[in-house]
Amino acid sequence: MTTEGNTAIDVAESISVLNGLLPDELQHPRVGIVCGSGLSGLAETFAEVHKIPYSQIPGFATSTVPGHQSTLAFGYLGGVPAVAMLDVVSKFHSYEGYPLSTVIYPIRVMAKLGIKSLFITNAAGSLNPSIPVGTIVVIHDHLALPNLTGFNPLLGPVYPSAPRFLPLSNAYSPSLRRLIFLASHQLSLPPSALTEGTYAWVSGPTYETPAEGRFLRNAGADVVGMSTIPEVLAAREQGVEVCVLSLVTNFVVIPDGYASIKEQVEAELAGKPIKIEEAKTVSHGEVVEVGKQREEVMKALIQRAVELHRTG
Ligand code: 6GU
Repeated sequence: MTTEGNTAIDVAESISVLNGLLPDELQHPRVGIVCGSGLSGLAETFAEVHKIPYSQIPGFATSTVPGHQSTLAFGYLGGVPAVAMLDVVSKFHSYEGYPLSTVIYPIRVMAKLGIKSLFITNAAGSLNPSIPVGTIVVIHDHLALPNLTGFNPLLGPVYPSAPRFLPLSNAYSPSLRRLIFLASHQLSLPPSALTEGTYAWVSGPTYETPAEGRFLRNAGADVVGMSTIPEVLAAREQGVEVCVLSLVTNFVVIPDGYASIKEQVEAELAGKPIKIEEAKTVSHGEVVEVGKQREEVMKALIQRAVELHRTG
């Protein structure tokens, strides 16, 4: 991962291009949304939607995936002017080789446009046996392995109007988390649908080894994923309130112990072979599938929370 790249000058440039393409009333969104794997249909619920392809916005990387044109969508969500990063490749992941400064660039643009709150969704693996697949985890804390090892997305010169040393003890807005739980109640979701937890950020693109999964679990993480934290940092740097919903798409594979090949061979030689189950692996297919199944619920929660926020 690298951290060099865009500067604040580009943000002003991006904003002037956006303002040239947007009607006046959509130029100052209050809410920002970043949608993860299989969760990108949220802007379909926007009223008066106005989509701008990333290719028209200076500083926005364009997708390398054929057939996917990424867009920034402006419109009204629950009556509030909002902006959403859309499409299955809406997020720029550091594992795709983008510098972290490119990953956080759209957040800096959204902050400059005036968003006060940022909602982020992602797909994550569960490390906690009591958090099953399909659960939506309202993130209340994080463990950012790259930040602890010299790959903090905010490394570099101080960004304009940002503090040099950003506190993160209050990164996840209690008032937005509260609205999500109220929204869940209003939508009559069962209490088991949502819980709170700690997100571990790893760079990817590999999934965890059993030892890494055990390490993260023992360190106190409930879910693990490869995104979101760079965006959280960029938003907090600008004083934007943050709310993260992680959808559990699979369990991290942490077998109880190792199938001992030594014992297996000894048993085989003694004429008493033992059957050992093959270790499970994570598939990207299941991650995307669960995302699709729960997309409607994630959308409804965010829309209702935004409405509750507006009506106070
Ligand atoms: Cl198991 N690990 C990571 N790092 N990210 C994930 C995941 C697992 N499942 C969904 N996203």
